[in-house]
Amino acid sequence: MIFVTGGAGFIGSNFVLDWLAQSDEPVLNYDKLTYAGNLNNLKSLQNDVRHVFVRGDICDQAGVLALLQQHKPRAIVHFAAESHVDRSILGPGEFIQTNINGTFSLLEAARTYWGALPDGEKAAFRFLHVSTDEVYGTLSPEDPPFSETTPYAPNSPYSASKAASDHLVRSYHHTYGLPTLTTNCSNNYGPYHFPEKLIPLVISNALGGKPLPIYGDGQQVRDWLYVGDHCAAIRRVLAQGRLGETYNVGGWNEMANLDVVHTLCDMLDTLRPKAAGSYRDQITYVKDRPGHDRRYAIDARKLERELGWKPAETFQSGIAKTVQWYLENQAWVLDVQSGAYKTWLETNYQNREA
Ligand code: NAD
Ligand code: TYD
Repeated sequence: MIFVTGGAGFIGSNFVLDWLAQSDEPVLNYDKLTYAGNLNNLKSLQNDVRHVFVRGDICDQAGVLALLQQHKPRAIVHFAAESHVDRSILGPGEFIQTNINGTFSLLEAARTYWGALPDGEKAAFRFLHVSTDEVYGTLSPEDPPFSETTPYAPNSPYSASKAASDHLVRSYHHTYGLPTLTTNCSNNYGPYHFPEKLIPLVISNALGGKPLPIYGDGQQVRDWLYVGDHCAAIRRVLAQGRLGETYNVGGWNEMANLDVVHTLCDMLDTLRPKAAGSYRDQITYVKDRPGHDRRYAIDARKLERELGWKPAETFQSGIAKTVQWYLENQAWVLDVQSGAYKTWLETNYQNREA
């Protein structure tokens, strides 16, 4: 079996669902169920014996080690993290705790478990660390995209904590020989995306008749990748990646935030027209994010050259699937819009005067 951390979050739950749709190899899904973890994402696996869910914190080294020794996974795929840049600005502590200390605890548990495996299993074991392109910092319009050799220059507490975790993973390979793999991916979108992030927030606010908040001038560029493509890339790296290597994963799809929001408004105007006017009328410019990275872009040629992966979805096809999913799953959105989430919205947006 494989041991997945953070498998109740956005990308982790997509990964678990895709994995079990394509393979009968069981998954032990270990997740703390923070505000971002949602077992409703995995409802379709409720009676599936191939999916074992355990609620727990990756900082609990002894608990993780006991599970590894009990279930004997052949790989760990590590998604668990605090993942929202704005939250890291308002409260960095949890990011240091989970992303740095938590990854350290997980590595220590993995090292102990792996060190005691028989030779054949030891050689076959993998620790795959899921990371972000944000560790590379920000690009100017004329800069080449981030490659695996771009120096790390993180600018937010989130990206700094992910950078630290990447370095820890690297050190466990070089120092202890732990068979690690790291992926650094660009911005994902797709089903089960928590509605605090740009794309699901805009869809949800548009349908709710609320303002669509654009930070600053809306000309910040992100490289958007459909989540199913990210999951496929992780499967490929897990199966064929060279030990100790890092692989950049991206969609070759750079877009300014305002263009993304315009695309969403235009699609909703067609699929769910308003009584009068366009969803674009709800766009509201708000105060910029402090330290806001201007541009991310990924050079994903290594992954294509070495492992033959490239994205299957274009932005047009992926965003069409995504908008359709949100229209059909409004109940999921309403469910996650819990009391705690409402408080977050007030905290993040109250001092961003238009
Ligand atoms: P998410 O916030 O949606 O989910 C994170 C999951 O981790 C949740 O289920 C949460 O309950 C769990 N978790 C948090 N702290 C934990 C802890 N201490 N112990 C156990 N579980 C814990 O995040 P996501 O967007 O699915 O991102 C998953 C991973 O992919 C992260 O490592 C993130 O840095 C990375 N990543 C995300 C993106 C993106 O666009 N979302 C892009 C590149 C990389
Ligand atoms: P986000 O989805 O938070 O991802 P990240 O910060 O990891 O790239 O934000 C994507 C972009 O959208 C980023 O440039 C910030 C911007 N943004 C807004 O303009 N308004 C919003 O309300 C949010 C949440 C994000």
